[in-house]
Formats: sequence, C-alpha cells, structure tokens
Amino acid sequence: MEGIEGSGKSTQIRRLAARLNRCGIPVEVSKEPGGTPLCKEIRRLLLEPHASGETWSPKAELLLFYADRAQHLAEFVAPALEEGRMVLLDRFDDSTRAYQGAQGIGDAVLDRIGEVVLGRLKPNLTILLDMDPTASLDRVEQRNAATSGFRETRFDEEHLDFHRRVRSRFLAIAQKEPQRVVVVPAQDGPDAVEEAIWNRLAPLLRTAGLPVE
Ligand code: TYD
Repeated sequence: MEGIEGSGKSTQIRRLAARLNRCGIPVEVSKEPGGTPLCKEIRRLLLEPHASGETWSPKAELLLFYADRAQHLAEFVAPALEEGRMVLLDRFDDSTRAYQGAQGIGDAVLDRIGEVVLGRLKPNLTILLDMDPTASLDRVEQRNAATSGFRETRFDEEHLDFHRRVRSRFLAIAQKEPQRVVVVPAQDGPDAVEEAIWNRLAPLLRTAGLPVE
C-alpha cells in the first residue's frame, strides 16, 4: 500500500487485512520503515530529529531506508512468503523511488541499490492511494492537532511542493507499471475507499485462485 502522508494507508491496510481474514485468507501486515525490532531502531534514526540539529544527507538517508528494507526482507517478509503466507506492507520500494527521488537521488542510483537489496523480489500488486497533498496534509495536521492539541495553520509552500513531486513520482511509477500498480482515488471517506480497493482487488484475487466472494 503506497501513497503520500495522510492518504489513509494504515487505515486501509487494516481494513483490507480484516476483509482477507474474513475470506479465510491469513495475511501478515507490516510497515516500512520499522517492521522488526532492529528496523524500529533505524526508523527512529531516520524520523526523530537529532538534538544536535544535524540532518541526514540525501544519500545517507537513502542507504538507511534500504538498510531497513534489507533487514525487513531478510527477517520478516522472505520467511513469511517462503511459508506461503500473503504479506501486506504499508510502504515499500515505490516510497523510496518517490520520496528519495523527489529529494534528488537519480533513477540510475535507485535502480542499482534497489537491485542489490530486492533482487528479483517485487510486490505482486501495489495499491496506490492517490490524492492531492493539500487535502492529505490537512488530514495529517488535524490528526496531529487531535493528539498534541496544537494545530499548525500555516501551510509551508516548499513542503507542499515536495509532496506534489512525491505524488507525481508515484503516479509515474503507476503509469510505467500498470499491471502491478492499481491507482485508487483516496480523497473520499474510509468506507468508500475501502470499497474502491476491494472492487479492484477481488477480481484479481479470484483470478489468482483465492477464495474471495
Ligand atoms: P510514517 O510515519 O510511516 O509515515 P506515514 O504514516 O505517512 O506512512 O513515516 C514514514 C516517512 O518516511 C514518510 O514521510 C515517508 C518516508 N519514507 C521515505 O522517504 N522513503 C522510504 O523508502 C520510506 C519507506 C518512507
């Protein structure tokens, strides 16, 4: 499950897992970064600001995201797949291509490191929850305000512009790989988005021989 912040990935992945379970299909759900105990350490390094004010250079950040992915694949994803289980991930390689690409890392570098870390492993299917960042970041702000009681009202144009670039990189991936990536509009309420995902997914699962009504 891919998409920009506030597009509803975590809600939808939970709902999808519950639906698959109701069909008698067991699934493993995980996320990147931070899918194993050691990956959580990498996540903290990536996302928590350091007291010194120093921030990661784009290349160092890229390698940390890939360190997280290599560990997650080795410790969690590959063993689950080998045992024949279905794995649903909240973010995977397209996030790196979209976010670190939008930070200025070139496609050739992404291809090379991606090949080292992923090998031939690719998701069978990717759901891209697509929406305008103005609306999705507004959701994030409201969520933050609800938990911290503080609402940042000023929209940072640079921030917004970065997320617009991330969105268009996600859409470019979807356009390049229409067989793998299903684009689902995500601006509606969670019930409508859940239905839209299921309507796109159920026929594919049926074709794959899975017991879906
Ligand atoms: P997270 O709290 O998981 O965000 P969200 O709830 O929106 O998924 O934080 C993940 C952040 O890391 C998010 O800003 C996207 C970014 N990210 C990358 O820049 N590159 C990556 O490869 C991945 C997996 C995430």
